[in-house]
Amino acid sequence: MSFAGVYSLDTVTLVLLCAVAVLIIAYFRNGSQSHVELNFPPGPTPLPIIGNLHLLDLKKSHLTLMELSEKYGPIFTIKLGMLKAVVLVGYETIKDALINHPDQFAGRAHIPIFEELTQGFGIAFSTGESWRQMRRFTISTLRDFGMGKKTIEDKIIEEAHFLIKMFESHKGQEFNPAIELSAAVGNIICSILFGDRFDYDDQTFIILVKAINESAKLSGSPMIQLYNAVPILGFLYRSKKKLWKNQNLIWQFTKDFITKNYQTLDANNPRSFIDVFMLKQQQESGNPNTYFHKNNLVFTVADLFGAGMETTSTTLRWAMLLMMKYPQIQEKVHDEITTVIGSERFPRTEDRKNLPYTNAVIHEIQRFANIVPLNVMHSTTEDLNFKGYFFPKGTPVIPLLTSVLYDKTQWETPNDFNPSNFLDAEGKFVKRDAFTPFSMGPRACAGQSLARMELFLFFTILIQRFRFQVPPNVTNLELSSDVGFTLIPKYQNVCAVYR
Ligand code: HEM
Repeated sequence: MSFAGVYSLDTVTLVLLCAVAVLIIAYFRNGSQSHVELNFPPGPTPLPIIGNLHLLDLKKSHLTLMELSEKYGPIFTIKLGMLKAVVLVGYETIKDALINHPDQFAGRAHIPIFEELTQGFGIAFSTGESWRQMRRFTISTLRDFGMGKKTIEDKIIEEAHFLIKMFESHKGQEFNPAIELSAAVGNIICSILFGDRFDYDDQTFIILVKAINESAKLSGSPMIQLYNAVPILGFLYRSKKKLWKNQNLIWQFTKDFITKNYQTLDANNPRSFIDVFMLKQQQESGNPNTYFHKNNLVFTVADLFGAGMETTSTTLRWAMLLMMKYPQIQEKVHDEITTVIGSERFPRTEDRKNLPYTNAVIHEIQRFANIVPLNVMHSTTEDLNFKGYFFPKGTPVIPLLTSVLYDKTQWETPNDFNPSNFLDAEGKFVKRDAFTPFSMGPRACAGQSLARMELFLFFTILIQRFRFQVPPNVTNLELSSDVGFTLIPKYQNVCAVYR
């Protein structure tokens, strides 16, 4: 090998190294400059393809985002694979966005898995005029069927009888209440959607309940988060197939119900949400641009079924766990209920104002459990300047609910379970602005008044009748959560001892 040869090889290597270095520098400069050029919020430097995914603990993304906000502030950019999103942190920032700029932040981000599963129909993942009409129709029809009123209160109390029987049947022995709670809560939304409840041993119903619970878990799993970040690798993910299978079950159930009920539809006597939708569909049949078509019907029902069941029953599971963990708080709630209502009559919603401690405990359960930690991703509906940054139309936005429910500037002891967060010095219940488990603004939970009524009635009725105890083999009751779209308690078994 000649000296010249060595020299020329070194030169080639050097040139190649320089080229790679220039490309890397250009890439990183581009990555961070693109924020600056568009006046985008700051954020960690993204890697090719995966963006910032390597920084996230995909089992607890909400916690990593909280940590990142300590470095980058209350508004920062995060690159989830191909998806560049803005994270909003803290009560003040999120309120400013969702309340003071309601329309601009009311879009939904294009999240691959939800786009595929919903195709832009329904309410939870739709946008624009279709979303507006579905949301308006849904809220007014839920109200007509008693949401927030006595009609639905009676249904919840009737359902509580069945639930009590199921709990009693375990005779104080350890059991997992997940399916029974989901079935009870599911029956309330079913009575509105389908006009009927189902028995807890109805296999079709139980299969649906399990499918919804499984989908809630899978849709927030690390695999599906990876799929959302890098969708071209979709064929690799088994979880995606399961999600499709579960979604198909719900669609088929709804479609069969529609077919069966269409023949007996009576404009003077609508029996269910589905009947009212079908009547509206008939009214609008001459309008080629109507949003009241079969796809929106099936997907809206699926959204309500899913959103209406999983969230509320998961909160009740947290309620039981927390009452077992803090038996003195459970006893105080029980004492208040028996002093104000007694142990015979079932609690009613009008009792809430006379049960300040119980009311505070229910609020604290929702705050502490933080069951939708990341919120559902929003997007901007137009170009917008917000707090010194420029967000182009369609920017995905994560209004991080964890950062409100655990905001150090709003709560004295954010990390502890502490009902005093909702009580004044005299023990009276106090409302707190940062209590936002249902989010804020025009996209906030469409079923919150139903959820609040269910939580209050199921919780007080169960505590009135049962003492929840830690199973004997458990020495240290864990409060950690399992990964999913919602935060589900990892440990779930209870002993429900009839009082
Ligand atoms: C404890 C129970 C519940 C919690 C914590 C909860 C929480 C939430 C949250 C955080 C959102 C996203 C809001 C946003 O994007 O800013 C949401 C949306 C939604 N929730 Fe709930 N929810 C609960 C129960 C229910 C129930 C019982 C129903 C139905 C009857 C329901 C129906 C919906 C619907 C349809 C949406 C989508 C709204 C839209 O995109 O316009 N939820 N919920």
